[in-house]
Amino acid sequence: MSGKTQKSLENGFTIWLTGPSGAGKTVLAHALKKKLKSMGYRVEILDGDVIRKTLYPELGFSKEAREMHNRIVIHMAKLLSRNGVITIVSLISPYKAVREYARKEIGNFVEVYVYAPLEVRIQRDPKGLYAKALRGEIKGLTGYDGVYEEPENPEVKVDSSKMTPEEEVGAVLKKARELGYLVSQV
Ligand code: ADX
Repeated sequence: MSGKTQKSLENGFTIWLTGPSGAGKTVLAHALKKKLKSMGYRVEILDGDVIRKTLYPELGFSKEAREMHNRIVIHMAKLLSRNGVITIVSLISPYKAVREYARKEIGNFVEVYVYAPLEVRIQRDPKGLYAKALRGEIKGLTGYDGVYEEPENPEVKVDSSKMTPEEEVGAVLKKARELGYLVSQV
């Protein structure tokens, strides 16, 4: 025996966090990771921003660029998930068709719509993007003057203006257990 203490699911699964900038994807991703690690699972976060900066910082935000980038993340999530890793994807992923493709490709899939009203996102503005958009310095900011196709039937919807990260984690893990992806109790 290797002496590993981490649990390995026979089949992992992907928790797909979608929502516009400032909705709370990053906070939820890290809260989920912390909780799942404390339960003994192997966990990886695939963060759109990090993958962009690491692999193709010049890519940009056209529909074609986002679709290609999202397809790369889908492939990474598929490889990790099928090897027993709980994969948390934190990606705006504004297009419904791409998210449906993710669901089909990955299989074990929990789509989480991370929502916050526009006023709240503008107030938070962690990267100063809404301020820039309001001043007209950038165009096509998702959820402001750029397209965001809201999920119609996500497994979970969380409203980060009304829920704490702990409550959001509870809602996501409850659904994952109902779907049979998690066996242990929270
Ligand atoms: S996606 O649309 O391609 O799925 P992704 O999650 O990778 O988005 O976005 C990465 C980050 O790009 C966002 O969190 C945001 O900080 C930054 N960003 C820069 N310009 C834009 C824009 N026009 N629309 C959305 N995000 C942008």
